[in-house]
Formats: sequence, structure tokens, C-alpha cells
Amino acid sequence: MYLTPEILKDFDVVFNGKPLKILGYYKNELPCNWKMYHENLKDPYHATLLHSFLVVFGLLVAGNDSAMIADPVHGRHGTMASAKKEDKYAAVSDENKKEMRSYHEGMRLQDDRFLEYIKEFDSPWSVTMQTIWPNLIVQREMNTLGVRQIVPNGPDSMLMQWTMFGYEDDTEEMTRHRLRQGNLMGPAGFLGLEDNEAMKFVQEGVRRSSTERNVLKLDPGHVGTANSLISESAIRAMYQYYRNVMGF
Ligand SMILES: [Fe+2]
Repeated sequence: MYLTPEILKDFDVVFNGKPLKILGYYKNELPCNWKMYHENLKDPYHATLLHSFLVVFGLLVAGNDSAMIADPVHGRHGTMASAKKEDKYAAVSDENKKEMRSYHEGMRLQDDRFLEYIKEFDSPWSVTMQTIWPNLIVQREMNTLGVRQIVPNGPDSMLMQWTMFGYEDDTEEMTRHRLRQGNLMGPAGFLGLEDNEAMKFVQEGVRRSSTERNVLKLDPGHVGTANSLISESAIRAMYQYYRNVMGF
């Protein structure tokens, strides 16, 4: 099986047989190699450091249940998953606050509806971001659903084609909710923005590097599904597979 049961499980949560309703499209160019997008979504470590929005509004805080799953056969696909705490502004322990540089106590959104998570699937996760080798991303970030297609565009450029959707049987209210929450995503989304910038910087760094070698330093020696979020083992698994098929 191409996806492996470990990856298919969360894929089937989104594609459960219900007819989809397309809500919109985005398209943008990113000044980085296409594999960097895989790296980004196989790197659970950056989220609480980079994404202020996630942290400030409690969507992902240190201490939440989470996982970074790599397919056990080739290590090429991945699922980054997390479960949001029930309470919208759940108290964060002092210990965890120290881990989150971008945490700001007492910050609130004007429109609280934006953060609402309407549980609609039989899944312990409120977020699953799937990297399906070679060029598909399946995004479920609370109630925003979408697929992204990575189109390589030279060694240091890629195009991203986003398709956002809901289901045909969604109520009008649910569709409004998905559209509102959809502002998290897209080229200028509250969560997408920083990733785009970070990938640009990393690509610049690679270009200026004096060596052809790069090191994935976290969790050394471990390849595949990560034991913790402070890990690059899923990235390592992907590059191991890539090197194999490319004959490097
Ligand atoms: Fe990110």
C-alpha cells in the first residue's frame, strides 16, 4: 500500500467518502527548494518558537498531546498531529511558558469565533498536517481543510497550489466558520506567513553555505516516527529515502 496504514488513518479522516465542497484556491511562489516544504511539515520543533499566533491563542502550546509520525516502510510520508486543549485559553504552566518565547499572557482575539474548534471527526487530533510524498499536503487545522500541491520550479523556487474545502452537507454556518478560520492558512495566513519567511532564510543559508553537507542535529541517530517534538527524525527519514531513490 502506497500510504501505509499509519498514514492512511488520518488521510481517511478527512477523505471519509463524503462529497467535498470547494471553498477556494490560493497560489503562491516560495523562494525555496520544494523539499523544504516537506522539512517544514516534518519539523514539529519550530511550531511553538516561530508561530506566535499558535502559541498566543493556545492552539499549540508546549504540553499539548502531539505526535510526529513517519511512515514505517520508507519514511517518505509524514503526519504532524496535535490536540488542542478543550479550554480556549487554557492555563499554561510556568514550566511550559519558558519553552515558548512567543507566549503572551492575557492576549485575546476580538472575534472569539475564530478559534472555535467544532469537533467533527472521530479522531483524537484537532490538527493533522500530512506530507504525502512527493508533492501533496493534506491540511486539517481545526475546521479548515485543504490540500496543497507542491510544484517544483527550479532548485530554489517552488509553486504552492492550495485548494480549500468543506463538505457538501456542511450547514451554511459551518461553511462560514471554515471560511473565517481559513484565514489561518494561505500565502498570507496567520500561520503560513512565518513559514514562508523562514524557508526563504533557510534557502539563503544553503546557497551561501561553504559546504555541500547539512546536518540534522536534533535527536541524532533516530530515524522515522519521532519520540518527542524536539526531533528531526522524520526529516532524516525523508532524506534517507530521497538519497536512496536518487542513488546518492
Ligand atoms: Fe510552521
